[in-house]
Amino acid sequence: MRKMLIYAGILALSCFIACKTNNEQSVLPLDSGWKFNTGDDQAWATAAYNDGSWKTIDPKKNWEDQGYKGYDGFAWYRMHIMIPSSLKANAFIKDSLQIQLGRIDDCDQVFLNGELIGENGRTIYNKKEPSIEFFKEQGRWYVDRRYVLAANDPRIRWDQENLIAIRSYDQGGAGGLNGKPFGISMADLQDHIKFDFSSAAFTFGSDSTITKKFTILNLSGTEEFKGKLTIDAILNDNGINIYSECTGMDITPKLKLEKSVTFKKNLASPATLKVTFTESTSGKTITDQFEIPYILTPKPGLKPMINGAKVFGVRPYSPFQFKVAATGKPPLRYSAVDLPQGLMIDAANGLITGSLKKKGDYKVKLMVENELGFARRELKIVVGDVISLTPPLGWNSWNCWGLSVSDQKIRQSANAMKSSGLIDHGWTYINIDDGWEDKHDKDGNILTNAKFPNMKGLCSYVHSLGLKIGIYSSPGPKTCGGYEGSYTYEAKDAQNYANWGIDYLKYDWCSYGTLAPKPSIDQMKEPYREMKHAIRKVNRDIHYSLCQYGMGDVWGWGAEVDGNSWRTTGDIEDTWESLSAIGFSQGKCSPWSAPGRWNDPDMLVVGWVGWGPALHYTRLTTNEQYTHITLWSLLAAPLLIGCDLSQLDAFTLNLLTNDEVLAVNQDPLGKQAVQIKKTDDYEIWARDLEDGSQAIGLFNKTEKVYNVPVDLKDLNIKGKPVMRDLWSQADLGKVCTHFEMKTQPHGARMIRLTK
Ligand code: GLA
Repeated sequence: MRKMLIYAGILALSCFIACKTNNEQSVLPLDSGWKFNTGDDQAWATAAYNDGSWKTIDPKKNWEDQGYKGYDGFAWYRMHIMIPSSLKANAFIKDSLQIQLGRIDDCDQVFLNGELIGENGRTIYNKKEPSIEFFKEQGRWYVDRRYVLAANDPRIRWDQENLIAIRSYDQGGAGGLNGKPFGISMADLQDHIKFDFSSAAFTFGSDSTITKKFTILNLSGTEEFKGKLTIDAILNDNGINIYSECTGMDITPKLKLEKSVTFKKNLASPATLKVTFTESTSGKTITDQFEIPYILTPKPGLKPMINGAKVFGVRPYSPFQFKVAATGKPPLRYSAVDLPQGLMIDAANGLITGSLKKKGDYKVKLMVENELGFARRELKIVVGDVISLTPPLGWNSWNCWGLSVSDQKIRQSANAMKSSGLIDHGWTYINIDDGWEDKHDKDGNILTNAKFPNMKGLCSYVHSLGLKIGIYSSPGPKTCGGYEGSYTYEAKDAQNYANWGIDYLKYDWCSYGTLAPKPSIDQMKEPYREMKHAIRKVNRDIHYSLCQYGMGDVWGWGAEVDGNSWRTTGDIEDTWESLSAIGFSQGKCSPWSAPGRWNDPDMLVVGWVGWGPALHYTRLTTNEQYTHITLWSLLAAPLLIGCDLSQLDAFTLNLLTNDEVLAVNQDPLGKQAVQIKKTDDYEIWARDLEDGSQAIGLFNKTEKVYNVPVDLKDLNIKGKPVMRDLWSQADLGKVCTHFEMKTQPHGARMIRLTK
């Protein structure tokens, strides 16, 4: 009883302080003052419940980093807060209140004063907790949590204390609230009006014109805004305005208006499109900007060029498939000298097939000819135990189609991989991610769902194009998308994959967490070892891709369970925060990367992405995309394109077909770049290449053009090396001990220094 009184006293005091200090505030911060408890009880949603014994928690960091290591399952957050009506009275727009709760890993239901005001999540399999079924919606955890209520919603208690309670569930990640922002405010102009640059791509016309479409949105169903809209296109290098428009604009409730601008611009010059709406009565402005794509890489020439991997690993007796990647004016004729017995090359398409019995190294001379000349290159075939001697180059369905993947979408992607010419630069794999599975039948064979009527036929089709095909499963009973996993069916599954003709398996931890909730390193290895044995028994080389988000520093033991690559992080998103946090933290696993054993910082987020079925154009800026491909190439990462290949635009295609950049990724030495320099503003990463040269990435982390300084001493280079700009494929001459390179905001330069 006494405790209760003290508790009530503290509450009254904190309410008093909140009333006083928050009176004039436009945002009530929610980034401290949260109470936390693990477990699950619906009574915790109510204001009457006494949470006095609960621990406090920082909502900006996941619970695993705050004393709840390894905890998965339900947990609740509670916060008592006074919501003053002055918030509404002082607001420019008075119709809706928004509660922003950063992000929540994985699922949440949010209650205000005991009543549900919103939820986000997905169906999660949990043997022990079937009640989790309520998360029916296929939401994604990595979305901002913003719950909006009409200002006159009776659930809000104006000028009184309110109770916000969050019921959260974590399936296997770091758990709970994280990120930013946290606060309660009235939705303002910037919350209602949005310029969506991801709603459409852009087109390059003849005569250096570029057309960009975007959408003007009013998220409010009731508010109308009158004012003026200005649009400017400005060259980044000299601030010159190359396009300007100013019009009156009436932004009606729920408006969704597509706007199109066309102007002339040199293809290679970085420029920015700035859009501003100025509301006439308040003078308030909303502004946003879009980096206009610029193209640096010259188109491949008409004379033959051989691209792609220079070394290829295969196991004895396994079916052999290697496509000689080459550009040049068609028709191209392919041939090979010193092909070992057991292999043959198709002169018309450059596909080498057959099988080899004896372990050993074979050096083959490849030749590609057309009417304008020929190209020659050596291919080293290594018959041995380890495959994937260069990082896989391909495509995966997840970042675009999510669980809506289908046979038709896979065929479409394979066709586009070929018709776009990506195949001619070494891109090979077409990987089906989660969403193809049905149940195991009575004989233990995994069945495909209705979206995949004939898996063997699909595999043959993809192979007939000169490509390879991958699949996805989980060592647990269910996949992350809630489909059937491989648990207890490993041998049968591997056999079926081989019968279908699968070349790549992504094996995703997911619900295995329910079998091993706080796994030791040995328990983490266990399911991967099990599947390793299963795939090693079949007569087929299957790239084995471990996906368990980097748990237990997998890079230290992934090779031991025969992984050819292993994810080092959680899922990537198409934002700078996600890209830079993942990309620039990969130095920790550099030493473990080697041919056939690759660190995988997750798939590429360029082009049309969206985790299906609805897609949007990547939210990464043009420069961030240059950073993405530069860094991933230096990191010797598997490059798995995550976009809809049937909608490839000229910029994305250009970004993915620079053979000098890809050659760094595919370098036979297989050494991952290391971080040479790190400041708040920039980073330098460098990688040794087989021919003794170095590939170097200069990264500008600021939002302005920045001259990144390079000191050859840091790179351990003596003398005056020759520098080549890899994105523009241009020689820049000799460099001295120090030099600087102009680098775009969040952008990269990629160079090669040869002594
Ligand atoms: C996890 C993986 C993703 C994807 C999904 C499929 O989140 O990390 O890459 O495979 O599962 O459900």
